[in-house]
Amino acid sequence: MEIRVDMRSDTVTKPSPEMRKAMYEAELGDDVYGDDPTVNRLQEKAAEMLGKEAGLFVVSGTQGNLVSVLSQAQRGDEIILGDQCHIFNSEAGGVSVLGGVVMYPMKTDRHGVIAPDLIHAAVKPRDYHKPPTKLLCIENTHNNTSGKAISPADMQMMADAGRAHGLRVHLDGARLFNSAVSQGIDVKELTAPVDTATFCLSKGLSCPIGSVLVGDADFIEEAGRWRKILGAGMRQVGVVAAAGIVALDLMIDRMEEDHVNARKLAEGLAELPGIALDPAEIQTNIVRFGVPDGSGDRIAAMLLEQGVYMNGGYSDLRMVTHYGIDSEDIDFTLLAMRNVMSEVASPVPTA
Ligand SMILES: Cc1ncc(COP(=O)(O)O)c(C=O)c1O
Repeated sequence: MEIRVDMRSDTVTKPSPEMRKAMYEAELGDDVYGDDPTVNRLQEKAAEMLGKEAGLFVVSGTQGNLVSVLSQAQRGDEIILGDQCHIFNSEAGGVSVLGGVVMYPMKTDRHGVIAPDLIHAAVKPRDYHKPPTKLLCIENTHNNTSGKAISPADMQMMADAGRAHGLRVHLDGARLFNSAVSQGIDVKELTAPVDTATFCLSKGLSCPIGSVLVGDADFIEEAGRWRKILGAGMRQVGVVAAAGIVALDLMIDRMEEDHVNARKLAEGLAELPGIALDPAEIQTNIVRFGVPDGSGDRIAAMLLEQGVYMNGGYSDLRMVTHYGIDSEDIDFTLLAMRNVMSEVASPVPTA
């Protein structure tokens, strides 16, 4: 069956024609020597947009988070973070494996926010039985709570709680621009409360590769050292960074279309039998929903037969809208899901 709609993630997006042209024409140099003018332009542009001194082009969101943590916490130190966040759940424990850094998870509410009281309670007293707490990590949009866009006020509230104990604050903003677009605010409002932030070019911004990490100049110098240790000093990588510059110019405002499509998808899904979903919870491009226990993999397999690709699961599923998916694709997906769910959710006939 030909795949018509790929809803697995916004990471499946392909570069736009403008990006391919810019990649072809990019001016290049050896970035390990700091000589690649295109990389330098991307880093400066990203830092300026996020209101920080300097930027560093990294391979992935995972690497951006890893480099950031390793630059701000040493072996035996602790970072505190939400129990639903990507760093804790989906980065293979890299900060512990490679940096000897302890992760302490705190309960996250359904908006992706960690209550200040939990942050105050999580910070360890000076006591040699305890790992010294150094860094608070927050995530916006918050992937596991269905792409919640956290407000500047909530960002400030969490950061203030960490700062009260002298912690630095890192933002995993893999989908930071989705958050800013959905709230109709400048992205700087979301980065002002934090010391360091990373965002992904390869998700909703549709670039083939890369993330940018930003912060003050000393931090970025240290982060560059850690990137080198991780083997990711890259050479004529302006060929990739060129797509990032185009993305920052052309791909941010269009994210609103992805959010509109996600809401339409959520409203349609919520009407189907066997699906648990409140469309009012959908703020950006991630639509998570519940299905009957144990049916997730079967639903994904049946949907694929109809030309719609999504990841399986046990009882929690996710669809993600992005560049390349339009309103008609949402109609197509809803029709396919209607067929699948009428079979999955219909009561088994008794003899
Ligand atoms: C919130 C969040 N942070 C970080 C990442 C990691 O990004 P990458 O896949 O580029 O390593 C992801 C990826 O989905 C993510 O959703």
